[in-house]
Amino acid sequence: MRILVTGGAGCLGSNLIETWLPCGHEIFVIDNFATGNPEVLPAQPGMTVVKGTVVDRALMDDVFERFMPTHVVHAAAAYKDPDDWREDARTNIEGTINVAQASRRFGVERIVYLQTALCYGRPHVVPIPVEHPVAPFTSYGISKTAGESYLLMSGVNTVSLRLANVTGPRLAIGPIPTFYKRLKAGEQCFCSGTIRDFLDMEDFVALMDRVIQGSASGVYNVSTGEGHSIKDIFDVVVDHLGVELDTPVPIVPPGADDVPAVVLDPSKTVRELGWTPQYSFEATIRRTLAWYDAHGTSDIHSHLRVPVPNDDDGVPARRSG
Ligand SMILES: NC(=O)c1ccc[n+]([C@@H]2O[C@H](COP(=O)([O-])OP(=O)(O)OC[C@H]3O[C@@H](n4cnc5c(N)ncnc54)[C@H](O)[C@@H]3O)[C@@H](O)[C@H]2O)c1
Repeated sequence: MRILVTGGAGCLGSNLIETWLPCGHEIFVIDNFATGNPEVLPAQPGMTVVKGTVVDRALMDDVFERFMPTHVVHAAAAYKDPDDWREDARTNIEGTINVAQASRRFGVERIVYLQTALCYGRPHVVPIPVEHPVAPFTSYGISKTAGESYLLMSGVNTVSLRLANVTGPRLAIGPIPTFYKRLKAGEQCFCSGTIRDFLDMEDFVALMDRVIQGSASGVYNVSTGEGHSIKDIFDVVVDHLGVELDTPVPIVPPGADDVPAVVLDPSKTVRELGWTPQYSFEATIRRTLAWYDAHGTSDIHSHLRVPVPNDDDGVPARRSG
């Protein structure tokens, strides 16, 4: 396959590329390195990396014409400043339109879109079924959902995967790297009082293998279906690092741009794609922490405003959706 991975220098894209290159797929990456890092993609046979933005229509057309991808994994997304609506709209809507139209024009067989679970907004029911109405209310969620809608109406075979928090090598958003970094440095933390589901990177990559090679189209939830509190993560990180706490960690209410519980119901995905996650919550968190032990952590990004702790001693801990 000839796979164009937009945002390939990011966490999910680079993990996919690491798996797919040795299988003989040709890979082309376009990334502006806004949150990704070129160093994670050292030059290798079978891979071309171009620095650029998916918003640049002429560049995108040129990339499609030169590379002629059979498949596109559209992983590029802007999210790092919740107040920069225009950048979110440019990358997540206009950039996605460029991907959709070029894919149509150049005969791409399938687009795989990586969608945020924040498309569901404040859900009426948890775990959230994939049929739940979408009602995003943040710049990231709104723009990503508009992008998904354009792809689904493009006429190109599209699979949109609405993802739980995928957790593994190079994860640089959310509570896991934040707690790891802060606790290791002897700094204080707090936990937002929210529930999320966490999916191991290896389980995500296994699903992507099925999706890229299969014939499914449409929208799927990708998760374990199991909710865990941010405090559950904190406890695993404390245990992993062997930290002794003087006082219990403060728990703060979710911020105004946050959702108390996001747990996705993956039953359609399990039924139709024959995929079942293999790793438990604790194994997933511990595997990521072991990766940080070996490789360290990088800068941490978030699409959320930092919640305000109740306790003056609390120090912001960011998380992701
Ligand atoms: N990681 C998760 O758990 C998760 C959950 C839900 C959805 N997603 C989606 O999965 C995709 C990948 O997420 P990730 O966790 O790897 O994030 P990431 O920030 O590591 O990767 C995103 C990549 O896109 C690049 N990028 C940003 N704007 C760009 C632009 N205009 N042109 C080209 N490249 C651009 C960034 O530099 C980065 O390399 C995103 O679309 C995100 O919305 C991820």
